[in-house]
Amino acid sequence: MCGIVGYIGRGNTKKIILQGLKTLEYRGYDSSGIALISKGNIVVEKKAGRIEKLEESIAGKDYPSDIGIGHTRWATHGVPSDKNSHPHYSMDKSVAVVHNGIIENYQNLRKELVGKGFIFSSDTDTEVISQLIQDMYNGDILDTVEKVIKRLEGSYAIGVIHKDHPNELICAREHSPLVIGIGNGENFIASDVSALLKYTKDVYYLEDGDIATLKIGSVEIFDRDKKTVSREKKHIEWSLEQATKCGYPHFMLKEIFEQPQVIKETFEKRVHNKKIDFSDILTYEEIKNINKIYIVACGTAYHAGLQGQFAFQKIAKLEVFTDVASEFRYSDPFIDEKTMVIFVSQSGETSDTLAALKEAKTKKALTVAITNVVGSTISREAHKVIYTMAGPEIAVASTKAYTTQITIFYLFSLYIGKLKGVISDEKYQEYLSDIENILEKVQKVINNHEKIKFIAEYLKDKTNGFFIGRGLDYKIALEASLKMKEVSYIHTEAFASGELKHGTIALIESGTPVIVIATQKNLLDKSVSNIKEVKARGAYIITVGFENDENLKEVSDSFISLPLCDDLFSGFLSIIPLQLLSYYTSSLKGIDVDKPRNLAKSVTVE
Ligand code: G6P
Repeated sequence: MCGIVGYIGRGNTKKIILQGLKTLEYRGYDSSGIALISKGNIVVEKKAGRIEKLEESIAGKDYPSDIGIGHTRWATHGVPSDKNSHPHYSMDKSVAVVHNGIIENYQNLRKELVGKGFIFSSDTDTEVISQLIQDMYNGDILDTVEKVIKRLEGSYAIGVIHKDHPNELICAREHSPLVIGIGNGENFIASDVSALLKYTKDVYYLEDGDIATLKIGSVEIFDRDKKTVSREKKHIEWSLEQATKCGYPHFMLKEIFEQPQVIKETFEKRVHNKKIDFSDILTYEEIKNINKIYIVACGTAYHAGLQGQFAFQKIAKLEVFTDVASEFRYSDPFIDEKTMVIFVSQSGETSDTLAALKEAKTKKALTVAITNVVGSTISREAHKVIYTMAGPEIAVASTKAYTTQITIFYLFSLYIGKLKGVISDEKYQEYLSDIENILEKVQKVINNHEKIKFIAEYLKDKTNGFFIGRGLDYKIALEASLKMKEVSYIHTEAFASGELKHGTIALIESGTPVIVIATQKNLLDKSVSNIKEVKARGAYIITVGFENDENLKEVSDSFISLPLCDDLFSGFLSIIPLQLLSYYTSSLKGIDVDKPRNLAKSVTVE
């Protein structure tokens, strides 16, 4: 989705903004642009396509400037083109605006402005903001923007500069994330902290309704009632190295390889002296009041939620429902003050998830967020928050966020199971050391990555395929299939192995790849039968199973072996080769792995 960067300081503005925009590329974008106040005027440069195109077009141009704003756009209103890219000038070029979000009443505002003689030069909703600022300008840019945003309906994070106010960068937010970076003799705005890590790690997260004015040496924030407010200063622990490729060809590969480390950190944050601690989230008294759990999320986080459901049911013996966030609100869920609703979101900014969270709060449920981003909107909205320790996840396709989310789910299930007394001390310790031992096994699977390349060679020319599994393995199949679609553009579908024969088996023909995940011991024989069914119709079988499973090896054309573990936890291991398989297939096809077409890392529209 769109990205915003803004800077006020002493020189180097063009370079700082372009660098910031590049760190936001991963969010997904189709055009980019920059506006600077230079020699008393605002210059706007913008281009459809990659940021390199923008860089080329301004390479030779000298724009001395101490203040500017930049944007990467992911088109919603109007096709990706130079004219629709941000920043948007006002008609007299006195104002430039960058905007994330959607202005829902833009058509009415546009009509009104056109009636007053304003001429628009783009198809975007955003342009009404710059034109309104020109129209309502009263000599005080902060006051003007305050009045303008009162007229906007929808969602926005905006950055505004005015040519007569070269010492003031204005920004505001409503339902779209925006942070202020605090520097020394310079200040920044960004839609995502990763754009700021090179310059500062101290930030203020703006809240809905906030408007702020940044000067070289000061930041002032006001709430929607124009009252000065102080937002808590947060220090970001993420390092710049975590947000750079560090020699890996792609972020996705780096992030897959980081998994043993980040799972360990997530584990260690919650486990001390062989005891799991979530007392900041739920006490014994609180858990007694809960009779049902919902898990709500989107995309990969939803798939982590499915594993969470499995863990809660198997370990904590709780009734759990999992739903995709965009459906949750409309399904009249049976939730009340005795329900705990867990929202999973890597970014903590996904609009669908946020909307579902607000709905659950109105129904008085206890809301818990599992997220990776400190200070994100979802982390602030939920009653309680559990942070994963994945570090910045830059590749659009989520990998390490997913495995840290499932780490949390398993630990949380064990914690609750123990509190509720449904699990013995012995079992508790056994499971805890099983999870601890998984870390080393994840590393082992990663070390086997060369073999996966061969299988990717086979897959790369295919146009469709299936992932199948039973029980927990089916949940892994869903995530593996999503990964493959996202980055390799091969159409795959995930099926519960037993369900394939009820219709979809009609699509199997000679050479159709069927990737089988078969780790659940009590279901192995049935999985072998399902393999035989598709094999008899010509499928090429690639199986992920435990290293000692000779029956599976026999019926498979290609076998990816996993080190032995209790099959309750096999999801930690089986997903790894399948993430690698998607990665290698994508890179062999020459796809831009980290930025697959049409996708955005953080989806901030419903
Ligand atoms: C987008 C991304 C997915 C991600 C989903 C949920 O669709 O492309 O990779 O799983 O959003 O994101 P979240 O940040 O809420 O986990």
